[in-house]
Amino acid sequence: MPQHPLSVFRGTSIGVVVAVLALVPQVPLLGQAPSRPNPPASEEKPVDGIPVSDPLVISKCGTCHKQDSKGNLTRISWERTTPEGWQEVIKRMVRLNGLSVTPDEARAIVKSLSASHGLAPEEAKAVAYMSEHRSDDETYPNDNIRATCAACHPFGRAASFRRSPEEWKLLADLHVALYPVVELTVFRRRPGRGPQGQGATAPETPQTPQPVDQAIEFLTKTYPLMTPEWASWRARERAPKLAGKWLVSAHVVGKGLYSGELTIDPGSSADEFNTRIRITPIAGGQAIEHSGKVVVFGGYAWRGRSTGQASGSSPDDLPAEWRESMFLAPDQSSAEGRWFWGSYDEFGIDVKLWRATGAATLVTIDRPSLKAGTQAQRVRILGDSLPAQIAASDIDFGSGVTVRRIISHTAQEVVAEVDVAANAILGRRDVAVGRAVLPNATAVYDKVDYIKVLPRTSIARLGGGSAHPKGYEQFEVMAYSHGPDGKDNTADDFEIGPVAVDWSVEEFHEMFGDNDKEFVGSLSQTGLFTPALDGPNPQRQQMRNNYGTVWVVATSKSDKDKDGKPLTAKSYLVVSPPLFIIWDREITP
Ligand code: HEC
Ligand code: HEC
Repeated sequence: MPQHPLSVFRGTSIGVVVAVLALVPQVPLLGQAPSRPNPPASEEKPVDGIPVSDPLVISKCGTCHKQDSKGNLTRISWERTTPEGWQEVIKRMVRLNGLSVTPDEARAIVKSLSASHGLAPEEAKAVAYMSEHRSDDETYPNDNIRATCAACHPFGRAASFRRSPEEWKLLADLHVALYPVVELTVFRRRPGRGPQGQGATAPETPQTPQPVDQAIEFLTKTYPLMTPEWASWRARERAPKLAGKWLVSAHVVGKGLYSGELTIDPGSSADEFNTRIRITPIAGGQAIEHSGKVVVFGGYAWRGRSTGQASGSSPDDLPAEWRESMFLAPDQSSAEGRWFWGSYDEFGIDVKLWRATGAATLVTIDRPSLKAGTQAQRVRILGDSLPAQIAASDIDFGSGVTVRRIISHTAQEVVAEVDVAANAILGRRDVAVGRAVLPNATAVYDKVDYIKVLPRTSIARLGGGSAHPKGYEQFEVMAYSHGPDGKDNTADDFEIGPVAVDWSVEEFHEMFGDNDKEFVGSLSQTGLFTPALDGPNPQRQQMRNNYGTVWVVATSKSDKDKDGKPLTAKSYLVVSPPLFIIWDREITP
């Protein structure tokens, strides 16, 4: 039994018992927690741990998490997770279990464990939306998981871990210890109350495993401690060597495409860097300059913060500070991810970086699409180290698109004029300048068949009235061709790009006479939704808050459907009270 000072526990008494026992490795009693009387045989096989060799981790964590003869620390050696996952664990050790560490030590431990007990890039990619703070709807592997493990936090929190069977079981016990109410709400069926949650649809017998047991069984199978991806990444991982010039292509949501450069200088240790960023809207306009710091965890997970001059004072202007979460490709030649800001991290830039190698490279193009049967279309292709001599014949858009002439060119851009044949094959295309290729750069289309408002569903948060900030939502429109099959929303459809629209808000009919659209907030003609004040509204029935559900509607200014009516699209927006608890999951340098 580890020497653990019981007095440091601030949890419930169940918490103390579960937590203390949980520190002892492979204690049979644990497999027999009252909730799981009959563990399947497969769960009893002990799994090899991943040894911890970092002296700092051993000295800080090893006081409670004892080391075995193979170098494994109890609990820790049977889990792998993202930097955010490790940070969260360490914060709980401090908050609840009495660990004492300085911020520098905590940072060093997160770095160390993210490398030795992290995720492979492929594994981490699947939960990138968590660290990138994207509001994308999650997809759930099954209904039971959704009802049982995504009721309080995103499922991505669970999917950010890889654990031994024992550790998955203990995770459920940890929840019961910290929040005993889960037993009543989602972890177990209530006898005589019919199917529990949205999860259970099949007829149940006394033998049907409880929702939590089904979930743990699924997680144990799907997210085991050892995976081929992890084995291969451990062998392949290299220290990040990022210093030098990088090229940037950035989609600022609501504002369009930007391109530019990022210079990376070495920082205070091998995995830390200083950055200087300069990006300019490709449609022309003010350049944005930032400088920042980055830590690269586990050889690929870029977590940064940068500051500069804000581009304006409206909430959707580029801010004085943003945070960065990106993935470096294993060959360290490119990276992609999101730079974000806003009280709910709701504003963001989708970013791609390429290392400037001195070879001709294409970064972006100012025309997301070209219409079939049009002449003398000007196209600007941005890149780096483009050849000094470029002839029209060096530029290739594929068949049916003829490059008439080159209007101008420098090492960073080529402006060309192209004709698009009326019978050019429709679809997305690569663009090449000499041997440099920009895949999927533009599209040839004949007409806009439908449009979508993105995101398709979203949440804005009331605020500004009391202590809580507003949570905005920026909408965009994407136009589509329905492709050769002539049907909307099928696999052969392709993106045409944004089109000019009028924005409006319509009632989402949920309750009679609640008239949400008059109260929830306002939508600008750039697609920015600004929520109303939080707090009770005397103008509203029953002094209700300004919450509600509405449709955000885009009506094309020029594209018509087959009946000659303007194309429209809508997106479902929930305007909710502020988020009163925000889980702190930040990794920032
Ligand atoms: C003072 C004692 C103490 C120290 C020091 C300590 N822990 Fe813990 N740890 C606990 C206890 C108690 C539990 C079980 C309860 C819980 O999970 O909070 C635990 C559980 C864990 C778990 C399993 C939790 C899960 O995900 O289900 C991990 C992982 C962990 N600790 C990591 C660490 C790391 C890393 C350090 C060093 C930075 C550390 N601990 C230091 C007491 C400690
Ligand atoms: C009652 C709400 C609730 C439900 C239901 C719930 N969780 Fe959690 N979960 C939490 C909270 C709150 C935390 C943060 C605990 C902390 O660190 O203080 C958490 C933390 C976690 C963590 C991080 C653990 C760590 O070691 O820091 C994982 C992984 C997780 N949950 C997975 C799951 C899984 C899997 C399920 C379904 C079996 C589930 N959760 C169901 C509320 C819930």
